Amino acid sequence: MEAILLVGGQGTRLRPLTISTPKPLLPTAGVPLLEHQLTRARDAGVTRIVFATSYRAEMFTEAFGDGTRLGLEIVYVTEDEPLGTAGAIRNASAALTCADDSPVLILNGDILSGHDISAQIAAHEKDDAAVTLHLTLVDDARRYGSVPTSPDDRVLDFVEKSPNPPTNQVNAGCYVFRRSVIDSIPAGRVVSVEYETFPGLLAKGETICGYVEAAYWLDVGTPAAFVKGVTDLVLGALASPVLTANEHGVLLLDNATVAPTARVGGGTAVGAGASIGADARVESSVLFDGAVIEPGARVIRSVVGAGARVCSAAVLEDCVIGDGATVGPGNELLNGARVWPNVALPATAIRFSPE
Ligand code: GDD
Ligand code: MG
Repeated sequence: MEAILLVGGQGTRLRPLTISTPKPLLPTAGVPLLEHQLTRARDAGVTRIVFATSYRAEMFTEAFGDGTRLGLEIVYVTEDEPLGTAGAIRNASAALTCADDSPVLILNGDILSGHDISAQIAAHEKDDAAVTLHLTLVDDARRYGSVPTSPDDRVLDFVEKSPNPPTNQVNAGCYVFRRSVIDSIPAGRVVSVEYETFPGLLAKGETICGYVEAAYWLDVGTPAAFVKGVTDLVLGALASPVLTANEHGVLLLDNATVAPTARVGGGTAVGAGASIGADARVESSVLFDGAVIEPGARVIRSVVGAGARVCSAAVLEDCVIGDGATVGPGNELLNGARVWPNVALPATAIRFSPE
């Protein structure tokens, strides 16, 4: 079976992490974020994936090549200018080889999901639907596509990012399309699957079905969600084909070092060559390769970029520190503070909280 992966977005809400790396490639428990979904799709029978790229397209080729490493055939179709979600799907369809009536799996590139992809495909075939959407329940649907369904799982409406969503049942960003429906999307212009294609298909009376499954699901769109995704993977809350169970709630990658008196836990991932000094405390955090946590520093629910340094007795809570930045001794950064790459904060012992 063939799939299309949407990975052309800029990931602006995750800046500064996404300045140098597109969101789907952020190191997530030791591998690029989208590797968890790719291998799940592979295990559900997908053999060939078309990457629909735009922003920093070359980095995807460098990371995945022809896909052999993952047991997949990967090809790339790059938009010169982003074509929107449906425009990207239509553009990528030029590289599909399957028949008109074949099912094609479409994946958003920033999702961690434990749902049963095979069961979604089976439901699509049973209903002979034009499109079948994975739907899940969230507490607040305003950031998502809100999708009411009938008792027999027919999609009744598709309302993207509304202040008054009709239901908390939302589009989970994984679709099965009949190939001929993809080819009916207008070519060569910006088209949104959420604002144009789904409402348009519904208006035409096409059969769009919901596959409702409340498995683990996360849109990794914000720093807090990224930290949650990594720590959940390390703690085993979401099984991934590329991770083995971790018994201590900590993932140490190659040559990472942790001083015996440091306290590290809560699903923390310590990148290759990163180090945590004596008496430091690192809880539910993500340290990229080569990050340095000096003795006595405290890092809680934060991301520390590649080669960044958190000096002694500094405190980070719910923060993002860009690659190569330095947080001088004694600074206290709280509540969503972000330090841009290569910035050096002096040892002023300031307390900074943006809200
Ligand atoms: N190739 C390409 N070109 N990809 C794109 C483009 C584009 O122009 N625009 C967005 N993408 C990709 C992004 O990289 C991402 O993988 C996916 O499309 C979805 O874009 P997001 O920017 O992450 O959208 P969202 O999270 O605000 O909303 C979408 O996902 C929600 C679930 O996570 C919508 O589909 C919502 O309806 C849905 O609930
Ligand atoms: Mg998203």
